[in-house]
Amino acid sequence: MERDTFVSVARFEDLQGKGCITVHPNGKTLVLFLYGDRVYALDNRCPHMGFPLDRGSVEDGILSCHWHHARFDLASGGAFDLWADDIDSFPVDLRDGEIYVDLGANGNTIERQRNRLRDGLQHNLSLVVAKAVINLLGHSVMPAEPFRIGLEFGTLYRGMDWGRGLTTLGCAINLAPYLDADDRPLALFHGLADVASDTAGMSPRFNPRPLPNDETDISTLKEWFRQFVEVRDAQAGERAIVSALRAGADDTQIADMLFTAATDHRYLDAGHTLDFINKALTSVDLAGWDQAELAFTSVVPNLTDARRMEESNAWRKPIDLIPLLEDAFAQLPDALEQGAGREASNEVEALMPTLLGDEPRAIIDLLLDCLREGIPPIELAGIVAYAAARRIAHFHTSNEFGDWDTALHTFTFANAVHQGLERVDSIGLTRGIFDAAMSIYLDRFLNLPSVRLPAPDPVAAPDILLDDFEPLLNLQQQVNQAGALAAQYLVSGGSPEKLMAKMGHLLLREDRDFHTIQCVEAAFNQYSIIRGKSEERANHVLVAAARYLAAHAPTMRSQLQTFTIARRLSHGENLFEE
Ligand code: FES
Repeated sequence: MERDTFVSVARFEDLQGKGCITVHPNGKTLVLFLYGDRVYALDNRCPHMGFPLDRGSVEDGILSCHWHHARFDLASGGAFDLWADDIDSFPVDLRDGEIYVDLGANGNTIERQRNRLRDGLQHNLSLVVAKAVINLLGHSVMPAEPFRIGLEFGTLYRGMDWGRGLTTLGCAINLAPYLDADDRPLALFHGLADVASDTAGMSPRFNPRPLPNDETDISTLKEWFRQFVEVRDAQAGERAIVSALRAGADDTQIADMLFTAATDHRYLDAGHTLDFINKALTSVDLAGWDQAELAFTSVVPNLTDARRMEESNAWRKPIDLIPLLEDAFAQLPDALEQGAGREASNEVEALMPTLLGDEPRAIIDLLLDCLREGIPPIELAGIVAYAAARRIAHFHTSNEFGDWDTALHTFTFANAVHQGLERVDSIGLTRGIFDAAMSIYLDRFLNLPSVRLPAPDPVAAPDILLDDFEPLLNLQQQVNQAGALAAQYLVSGGSPEKLMAKMGHLLLREDRDFHTIQCVEAAFNQYSIIRGKSEERANHVLVAAARYLAAHAPTMRSQLQTFTIARRLSHGENLFEE
């Protein structure tokens, strides 16, 4: 027998005299309206910002909130102003002059929250997105589920290509394991709200069908795909990708196709293209292979429309880097063959003066020698990613502010090459190591003068330093201080996990821009890889991230404000009464 979840809340005659009263069953505050000959029961807090709805007004069956004037269907609680969200409404029964309300049926189900998340994405409503994420995770839904909804929406409605929002979402979900549990919904909110904003007003994309049969092998499709990218034909490229997937290409084959095309030309779109491909791959890892066609075709226009750095002055003059690189690429197969089976000693610090130096030919020769001596491409990519992080660690604030982006682009590109080589041993992608190294060379002016790596003395109680981090980043441009604080915390034996959780929190409380979340995510990834090899070098990467974060704080923190409102509403707090 079903349990009766109706509870008595008021006498009908009490409502009759007033037309509207509030009641407080089981700790909730409900508003009862008598309209026509029916009684309606709703949560008294306006779902938008919590204004008491008993102070609203009803006309023609429409309830209006008197704060921001959102309108709701009195009977169902459904909002006509979608930014306000639907009100929880409750079935009513009249029994012997008593009003009974069914408190077990407020409709706050997981499916409703999924739909609200889709509404928020479709209409670019960040408060709605925030509430849906909080409620979904509050119902023990795993973060991967809202992430998947965002990925599906973002790849379908992105209009042209993989963009800022999807990259932010990918960074957010990758950061989640490093964060305190309380900050994980906030991270997802940042990513999903950015997808909503990035797709606003965009038309949906329609993928081409695969080739009519699957007789073409994957390696032929790969070569065709490179041809199509070469002539900037996105549609043909998308058909090649869909056909490869339907022909059974696995993730390493698809990764090889995409990464090889992305390194047929130099440092596409200042590294963004390859970074986006890496994010598309890691996103599909998390969301599931059924997202592969939309995700991987969405990066094709990033490939075909990208600026090729051989078209840029900086890569051509005063030293033409392109023939140097082409010569190196011609030597790659032999270098890899010579290095196969050899075990080179890996003295990373000894390589730094050359990698951070100003002799491009010497840098290229060093990389080829490393491969010949047996340093595997994946190891070499990690060394180059570390060198790119050092550019940020040594960045001098006398540079123009926008120059932080230049150093950041190189680092995230180098990190993506490294992650890509972890996924697939691709000789095409190995060229990306050389591109990253050339970009580090071109960024050398950012370290003139060079800020020294902090070498602080240890303190006895490092956790106090973490408490200092928040107020420090309430001030502008505490770049060197933030780097020194991170270094001192780490050399004092502080927990790197706590430091990363704190940095993640400090990132998410800001209106973080696309580049800052990329920097922190890449740094945490590199830290996790390097720490098993050298604690000192791993610490340098977190110092770099702390400096970048401090350079981009404080902001208005409007996103945090939106999220805080959503969190308080979902906790049942009365915002208006303060
Ligand atoms: S419309 Fe009700 S609080 Fe804003």
